[in-house]
Amino acid sequence: MTTTPVRRPLVVAHTRAELVGALDETRARRGRVALVPTMGALHAGHAALVDEARARVEPGDAVVVSVFVNPLQFGPGEDLDRYPRTFDADLEVCREHGADVVFAPSVEEVYPGGDPQVTVEPGPVGTVLEGAIRPGHYRGVLTVVAKLFGLVRPDLAVFGQKDYQQLVLIRRMAADLCMGVEVVGAATVREPSGLALSSRNAYLDDDQKRLALALSRALRAGADAGPRGAERVLADATAVLEAAEGVELDYLALTDPDLGRAPEHGEARLLVAARVGATRLIDNTAIHLGGR
Ligand code: PAJ
Repeated sequence: MTTTPVRRPLVVAHTRAELVGALDETRARRGRVALVPTMGALHAGHAALVDEARARVEPGDAVVVSVFVNPLQFGPGEDLDRYPRTFDADLEVCREHGADVVFAPSVEEVYPGGDPQVTVEPGPVGTVLEGAIRPGHYRGVLTVVAKLFGLVRPDLAVFGQKDYQQLVLIRRMAADLCMGVEVVGAATVREPSGLALSSRNAYLDDDQKRLALALSRALRAGADAGPRGAERVLADATAVLEAAEGVELDYLALTDPDLGRAPEHGEARLLVAARVGATRLIDNTAIHLGGR
């Protein structure tokens, strides 16, 4: 049996006032609101987050997708100016996956009067891994996510495990600052080759794409070695990365699921970041350590 996906009317809100208007009716009915924050250039990974949001609320509740390339989280020399922008295609993805509202504000709408004076300090987890390499990045991410939570006032918000440290930090922020938002983590969507989908994959040519497979292959080798302990996980993953000429490793780290010290046995996380040409790629996977 084939079913035609339900195409709901999609409201595009560019201003805070339009956003409030778009959610008026839902709020009047005391309906729930689910938020999927993105920077656009939507791919199947983002679409899976919209599906997850849609599945977690009732048909009459509202799913909001925000599309905003947040200058505050880009460092000097990063790709803010060349970040891919595909707004019309993004709207189509949102429509196809059952979103009700796309909130696509301008920089001025989000940051009237320039950079905010008060920002969210990510704390210790914000200083390791990506945080160590991209100073200020997570302050920018948490500040804009806090603002989006304030503007949209969602009951739940869905983020990808692809950006694992970001997910851990947002979960922590929502808990530590009592934001009353349920933070949902969704599995990483990959190409059949294993490559994690990313808007930045658009920067890779075919050769670089082949090289980029070293990241997911290393993670798979690490996960396979899980039963034989932490040392073997790191050794097997490192061997894959070292064999990949042209892949410049930034870090390979084995941690506990909250990004603290890895346990001897049980659930852990393996995270990798590397550069292929001028493009920085990150990926991660769950690891089960030890024979138990
Ligand atoms: P962006 O990179 O556009 O990602 C938006 C969301 O999509 C994030 O939660 C990210 O983890 C998720 N995502 C990206 N690739 C994915 C994949 N292959 N599978 C599953 N989920 C994937 O992350 C950001 O934007 C920004 O930092 C943001 C949170 C919007 C704040 O500006």
